[in-house]
Amino acid sequence: LPETRLYQSNDKSPLQIFVRAKKKINDIYGEIEEYVLETTTFINALHAEAEIVDKAERELFESYVYKVAAIREVLQRDHMKVAFFGRTSNGKSSVINAMLREKILPSGIGHTTNCFCQVEGSNGGEAYLMKEGSDEKLNVVNIKQLANALCQEKLCESSLVRIFWPRERCSLLRDDVVFVDSPGVDVSANLDDWIDNHCLNADVFVLVLNAESTMTRAEKQFFHTVSQKLSKPNIFILNNRWDASANEPECQESVKSQHTERCIDFLTKELKVSNEKEATERVFFVSARETLQARIEEAKGNPPHMGAIAEGFQMRYFEFQDFERKFEECISQSAVKTKFQQHSSRGKSVSGDMRSMLDNIYERITIFRNLKQDQKNMLTERIQGTETQMMQVTREMKMKIHNMVEEVEEKVSKALNE
Ligand code: GTP
Ligand code: MG
Repeated sequence: LPETRLYQSNDKSPLQIFVRAKKKINDIYGEIEEYVLETTTFINALHAEAEIVDKAERELFESYVYKVAAIREVLQRDHMKVAFFGRTSNGKSSVINAMLREKILPSGIGHTTNCFCQVEGSNGGEAYLMKEGSDEKLNVVNIKQLANALCQEKLCESSLVRIFWPRERCSLLRDDVVFVDSPGVDVSANLDDWIDNHCLNADVFVLVLNAESTMTRAEKQFFHTVSQKLSKPNIFILNNRWDASANEPECQESVKSQHTERCIDFLTKELKVSNEKEATERVFFVSARETLQARIEEAKGNPPHMGAIAEGFQMRYFEFQDFERKFEECISQSAVKTKFQQHSSRGKSVSGDMRSMLDNIYERITIFRNLKQDQKNMLTERIQGTETQMMQVTREMKMKIHNMVEEVEEKVSKALNE
């Protein structure tokens, strides 16, 4: 995609709420870090010069330096996370590829997703894989190689492979969205582990359904467990493969309203995660495969409808874009709240603690200064007293000497006369 177009769409993206908030909180933490370092240097000097600050206090101040540095590090890594679930072959990997505008994740026959795959942006134009528990970067030359690497790996279904893809290739990756693809919910007995390991920090969940069939028990059960473990998770439902409905135009509308009603009931009455109004904004009828094809055509400079699979392409394409817009709004707002609210209250408590400690030290310094002043005053008084005494003694001595001299003179003149 031409860079300029990416930038244009990026500027208007609701994801910017998160991007701007992240920049702002990073800047604020940069200032807090400077302040903490400066204060610690000052405190250490105070300890060295006069023992106003004790060892424990000094150590506490130093601990703030590490605390703030640790928060800054977490902040750098904070992102918006979306996780996709649904029965096998419903098109989870295809939906992610359509959003990334490129066939990155393997999909289709022989390419069943067999473990968790996380796609995130990498810097410096590099593409590579990382397996759970290893720091080794496995280079990815092309997508075909990536597909083969993922399929040949004998991985545990709940383990995680991280796929790093160049940020500049997709605006969602550049804006810090991380995608998590999963194996089908019908193929695993370890759904609890899945949720504990991969879902607790997700900002948005997307349930990918097959519009040609109905929601299964496994899919429902999975989201029941998610909503028990998380309070009010954000869930979007995609009725995928909607292109198939074009073959039966006579029942298209009735099928659509049936699916819509079931999905809304599921979100509102069963899971109780949304109200009626919210839920209507969370259910979509799309074709991931077609959207991906259309976007690949667009990237080549062709009109998107060249990727159409069936009649009614434009509606489905708009609906996919509508889903993306609502998804972007939801994920950026949710991530700002869940991630940054925590950091800002920690920042507040660190600066509050430091302030009260500094107030405390200031109070001690004032008392110390007053004490010194009192001592000085006492000393001055004493010196003044000594001076007066000295003067008196000197005066007395002078008189005595004077008298003695007079006496001696008298005695001498008397003796001379005699
Ligand atoms: P697993 O990884 O096995 O759980 O499957 P998945 O949910 O990731 O599905 P995947 O994306 O691999 O898609 C399965 C097959 O369905 C592929 O051949 C896709 O091309 C096809 N497919 C996906 N979305 C659509 C769609 O909207 N319409 C049509 N016609 N085919 C689709
Ligand atoms: Mg898949």
